[in-house]
Amino acid sequence: MTKRLNLLMVLVVIGLVAVSGCSDTQANGTVTEDAGASIAKTTYVIGTEPYFPPFEYADENNSGAIIGFDVDLIKAIAEDQGFSVEWKSLDFDALIPALQSGQIDIIVSGMTITDEREQSVDFSEPYINAGLALAVAENNDQIKSVDDIQGKVAAVQQGSTGAAKADEFKAQGLIEDVIYLPHVNDIIMNIQSGRADFTINDLPVTLAYMNEQPGVIKIVDDQLQSESYGFAVREGNTELREMINAGLANVKENGTYDEIMDKYF
Ligand code: ARG
Repeated sequence: MTKRLNLLMVLVVIGLVAVSGCSDTQANGTVTEDAGASIAKTTYVIGTEPYFPPFEYADENNSGAIIGFDVDLIKAIAEDQGFSVEWKSLDFDALIPALQSGQIDIIVSGMTITDEREQSVDFSEPYINAGLALAVAENNDQIKSVDDIQGKVAAVQQGSTGAAKADEFKAQGLIEDVIYLPHVNDIIMNIQSGRADFTINDLPVTLAYMNEQPGVIKIVDDQLQSESYGFAVREGNTELREMINAGLANVKENGTYDEIMDKYF
């Protein structure tokens, strides 16, 4: 009798494990038990280049935890849709390859939705509008607008839409050279040292930098190109994309989106 009962219990346990395994559909393989809750949550790995305030950056008051508009927004979406997230920091131009190879599940990195990227990833609905701005050193009085960049050198973030714009200018024979750098801080250093004359970067990020470090750079064109950001998932990962879209619609409707907006802008 006891033996049969034991066998029964073993079978029940095996059944439970099998069922919880099934809920781990698209993610990187981890199903975490939420503290206190008894429901297993799927964990998705998020890839980001976290030196991009106000969208994703280190919180200096909290041992470098990643904070920002994008971070709060995806956390709110995850909470709404009942999944957990884990963070992985990568260079911006490494994000799409990492998504394709399955190292990460979602790109949350101020990524602009472009036709070219649509060829290799699937984007959520747009979650914010941004655009490209042209900035120069504060003491530069030669470049007053995009009309004055002939023969000049651009410093841009590698793999970004700002870099693509600079490439266009170079292909047109308009500018002398393009320096590709991994992080915004490297770009600023190149402008300060005079190796580069200008940068093309996302307007909100340039504005945030100017706010933090006044007197270093200034914007001479704030409407080079308008863009929208989206969260990217692997091509064909419709389930995750639909969850993100549903969560985004919900947090817009329940006021959370506006709260996050007010916090960072
Ligand atoms: N929006 C631009 C792009 O998609 C730049 C994004 C850079 N993001 C970052 N976290 N470094 O190309």
